[in-house]
Amino acid sequence: MRYLLIAALIFLSLNLQAQKFEGLAPTPPMGWNSWNTFATDINEQLVKDIADKFVELGLKDAGYEYIVLDDGWMAKERDANGNLVADPEKFPSGMKALAAYVHSKGLKFGLYNCAGSETCAGYPGSRGYEYQDARLYASWDIDFLKYDWCNTEKLNAEGAYMTMRDALAKAGRPVVFSICEWGDNEPWNWGQEIGHMWRVSGDISNCWDCEDDHGTWSSWGVWKIINMRKNIRSATGPNHWNDFDMMEVGNGMTAAEDRSHFAMWSMLASPLIMGNDLRSATEETIKTLTNKEVIGVNQDSLGIQGFRVSNEGNIEIWAKPLANGSWAMTFVNMNEKPAELSFDWSEHKITDAETGKGLNTKEKTYQVRDLFNHKKLKNTKSKLKATIGVHDVLMVRLD
Ligand code: GAL
Repeated sequence: MRYLLIAALIFLSLNLQAQKFEGLAPTPPMGWNSWNTFATDINEQLVKDIADKFVELGLKDAGYEYIVLDDGWMAKERDANGNLVADPEKFPSGMKALAAYVHSKGLKFGLYNCAGSETCAGYPGSRGYEYQDARLYASWDIDFLKYDWCNTEKLNAEGAYMTMRDALAKAGRPVVFSICEWGDNEPWNWGQEIGHMWRVSGDISNCWDCEDDHGTWSSWGVWKIINMRKNIRSATGPNHWNDFDMMEVGNGMTAAEDRSHFAMWSMLASPLIMGNDLRSATEETIKTLTNKEVIGVNQDSLGIQGFRVSNEGNIEIWAKPLANGSWAMTFVNMNEKPAELSFDWSEHKITDAETGKGLNTKEKTYQVRDLFNHKKLKNTKSKLKATIGVHDVLMVRLD
């Protein structure tokens, strides 16, 4: 009997180890990542400044939580014991102290590494060191790990990410595990039990709808990524999110394009990870990033990825079912000139093929609220009318 009990306990603990940390991302994670703006040019003062800005600019209050250092935080070599070392010039106080600083602001701290032998920028990868690296992160009080896919010759993606998941579980400190293999191995088909979010594409670029060709790979504008992955909706949900990449809001598109980008990431229930320099961000950028009504759509408890309804007059129309029978609707003007929207609710019966939820204005009259202008509009008995600027957005909530 005793042996049976011991065997059962061993079985149970082995099984516990082989699970991701549950409950860490009931809604899409929100935060900031260094890569889009700084690439490997990062240092400890930058992290402290960003943490300060989170508080000062109301980003923390709006729900942003994670500050994540991407590639380039390490020294080029592991130490004599095989441990990763923070670059002593960029991070003289070390990662544990930096994590403590970030935590002192009520925020969380994340790092980046890679399943391969080296990271994409040529720093030591975790291949063969997974458990050791996970223990180190736990000892530094790290809360989030972005795990990349460069230099992974012959590795099986699901297996490699599972190994790191298990290593994190064994190390014991709850960590949001962010899978970054660019969608190559369709992580939306296997990532749910492994990570809390997975990138669905190659790198984003700060453009509306471009492809930046880098020879062996491309980076993608906002609409390229949206269109590439609008059909993997069923994979997303509480604690496992399709990640449409770090945002380019504030990185050079027009203010209208930034608004549309932010609206769409919210409609798609993507993690909202800022990628701009918060120290020099304009008021307009911060206004977009801290728009709590739009964020509310992203953070809706049902966690449903929105879907494309139609395109009328080159206005993209998207819908997202929200909790308690509410809906979000987004109209993006793809034209190169302002567009007049006149949307007759009674002529549109919108049904979500995935969840069966329907927006039926014949049966119910909804209150309509404009989420960027923060005002009540006429209810769904009237047509929705607006002039939408070039690449700008009208986003409404129906309750
Ligand atoms: C890419 C990844 C980027 C960034 C970069 C760092 O593979 O998609 O988001 O992490 O590596 O080298």
